[in-house]
Amino acid sequence: MALDTAPRRCLREVTPYSPGKSIASVQRELGLKNVVKLASNENPLGPSPRAMAVYRKAEKLCSLYPEGASPELRAAIARFHKIEPERVLVGNGSDEIIRLLCEAFLDPEDEALASQFSFIRFKQQALMMGARVVEVPMADWTHDLGTMAKAASPRTKLLFVANPNNPTGTYNTEEEVRGLLDSVPRSTIVVLDEAYCQFAAGCADYPRSIPALTGRYDNLVVLRTFSKAYGLAGLRAGYAVADPELLSWLDRIRMPFNVNLPAQLACVEALKDAAFVRRSVALAQSGRESLAQALRERGFTVWDSAANFLFARSPLPGRELFKALLAEGLIIRPLDEYGLHDFVRISVGTRAGNKALLQALEKLLEVAV
Ligand SMILES: Cc1ncc(COP(=O)(O)O)c(C=O)c1O
Repeated sequence: MALDTAPRRCLREVTPYSPGKSIASVQRELGLKNVVKLASNENPLGPSPRAMAVYRKAEKLCSLYPEGASPELRAAIARFHKIEPERVLVGNGSDEIIRLLCEAFLDPEDEALASQFSFIRFKQQALMMGARVVEVPMADWTHDLGTMAKAASPRTKLLFVANPNNPTGTYNTEEEVRGLLDSVPRSTIVVLDEAYCQFAAGCADYPRSIPALTGRYDNLVVLRTFSKAYGLAGLRAGYAVADPELLSWLDRIRMPFNVNLPAQLACVEALKDAAFVRRSVALAQSGRESLAQALRERGFTVWDSAANFLFARSPLPGRELFKALLAEGLIIRPLDEYGLHDFVRISVGTRAGNKALLQALEKLLEVAV
């Protein structure tokens, strides 16, 4: 049946998000038993065990609606950062908060600004609101915050900076971020998406954003997620720290029960599991060094990463490499949706996962090491 009602005009510009292929779909489609996923920057250690113990206990409460504003989780996040709960908003993944920011602040014809190769959800979500997206070129695959600041005008409502950046893994320093915040119009909301911040531990000049910067700049929103270092991507929880008045607009338009009850309880516990986060970060940091080195020996150009994944120029077109590895039970991420046809993004896995990748590559690329 043909649809007689036209959807909003701006939706014609929107391409849907294309997520990393799931393990289950590869098992189903290719009949493979052992599949290693290095495509969505998930935690190869699995979820925080302490968080999962609480998750299991939450089972008995699943007939009840959760508390809509996630008050216990907000309070736990506030304690964790030593800030007031009014400065915290919890979302169904940080992805929901990106959406809420666009819905709350972008009228058609307003501008959203981001780097050319930044997390694609910023652009997709802004386009869904009919806004104009301005993309600023990067400098050596790093956000050029000086040029971004100059490009911000009174029409720029949102300026997105993923730090470290997905998909390039590069990061901006505290000095650069402060420079940006000091230069943009006060009417421009700077969204600093720190989904991978834990993996930048050890980078001395990485920004200390909460509470130092969030307390100082009312137009700054910092986003964090439970999906990466805490290993809870399947629960869908993330949060924003910002000025309470700014957050009140997001709170007004979020779904009434946006974060499910087991997720709210499990995330409170995850915040206490510092040992798990330390293990996750250590695994990603040691793995990314050795994997980068091994990939370079196999003909890849690999950029230094402050995250739990590597950005690499591949000796084969990215999609060809992706397909060939898929047949071997390994899922990586081609970057065609960014127009980067020769590049791939590879999440750092367990030692065994990384080894499986390297063995498959050896076979494919016929490299004697
Ligand atoms: C930079 C960045 N921001 C946000 C997200 C979304 O994370 P969440 O699972 O919290 O929605 C991702 C996920 O990959 C990401 O890479």
